[in-house]
Amino acid sequence: MGEPTPDVVVVGGGVIGLATAWRAAGRGLSVTVCDPAPGSGASTVAAGMLAPVTEAHYTEQALLRLTLDSAARWPALAAELADATGIDPAYRETGTVLAAADGGDLAMAEELHAFQQSLGLSVDRLTGREVRTLEPMLAPGIRGGLFVAGDHQVDPRRLIRALLAACATTGVTVRPDRVSAVRTDGDSATGVVLGDGTSLAAGQVLLAAGCWTGAIDGVPEGVLPTVRPVKGQLLRLQVPEQARPFLRHNLRGIVRGASIYLVPRADGELVLGATMEEQGFDTTVTAGAIYELLRDAREILPGITELTVTETQAGLRPATADNMPVLGATALPGLVLATGHFRNGILLAPVTADAVAAVLAGEATPEVARPFSPDRLVRPPSPMAVR
Ligand code: GLY
Repeated sequence: MGEPTPDVVVVGGGVIGLATAWRAAGRGLSVTVCDPAPGSGASTVAAGMLAPVTEAHYTEQALLRLTLDSAARWPALAAELADATGIDPAYRETGTVLAAADGGDLAMAEELHAFQQSLGLSVDRLTGREVRTLEPMLAPGIRGGLFVAGDHQVDPRRLIRALLAACATTGVTVRPDRVSAVRTDGDSATGVVLGDGTSLAAGQVLLAAGCWTGAIDGVPEGVLPTVRPVKGQLLRLQVPEQARPFLRHNLRGIVRGASIYLVPRADGELVLGATMEEQGFDTTVTAGAIYELLRDAREILPGITELTVTETQAGLRPATADNMPVLGATALPGLVLATGHFRNGILLAPVTADAVAAVLAGEATPEVARPFSPDRLVRPPSPMAVR
């Protein structure tokens, strides 16, 4: 007897694919996830800042509604995962401090503050002294900054472990297989073709393959939006026990116009990121990027030079033409998308998982996710004009 046909096959076992698989299984669907290296890719590079407000300047109004909605789901999701698996994804309500290095940087921070206030977001404007009271390790010359009490963090690597365990407990099958194509019967998606040429039939196919979405063959023209990789390089450092807490909050810096962030974990890890580079699928780590991140970080946080560098990495953010995610059903019946999360994959995991699992279960796309339908970015090819 062959394997039973799952209700859903998920292509991509990053945070988005695993969280959605788990939620879909929770709704009673049988789910198989295919990924040659589950839990790797952008999810394992991400710093885990949950920052709808400090990232609002990258954000359209509809996306802001989505990011705020998802941020509000994080405490319950983290508690549910910890309960279900015994693995705590280390959701921490740290808040985020923004520090401006010089007068020009302070002007940028003030502009950001005015923009955030125009959106009704809760942000405090701080003097240099107030910023340093919140973060005593900051350089004495810090000109001022902002405090966002509601922007927090989670540890994406612990999150992946928790999601893999949660998937296992709900009966999700995770297969270390590469998917080369979506299988169709001409009218709808009927499964996937694996890298070894074998077929896996499924009731529906969810593409959650991040910036590798375009590498999946078999989908008719005009169904998949283009998803491009945007490279981000970052470093991980370790704060020795006697120097903790080195930072009490997430820290964003504006340093001579450049933006950096530092995410401190309870175990002493400190993540410093990140570049934004349009370099195709290149994941090399360059001396120039690491130099610039450390140079800018040292300007606002001189003690950083004492810390041990434990890792340097480059990840690929999946970005669409309008830099917003694509969520929900496509023009090909049976093919659903959850990709294009760009700078917000970890933040948007809870709302994506809930909304896309609802679609997979046959419900209408929840209101908050409707602006992110794939059809805003793709049009089926029009028939030839009749002369
Ligand atoms: N959300 C931060 C980044 O993408 O670098």
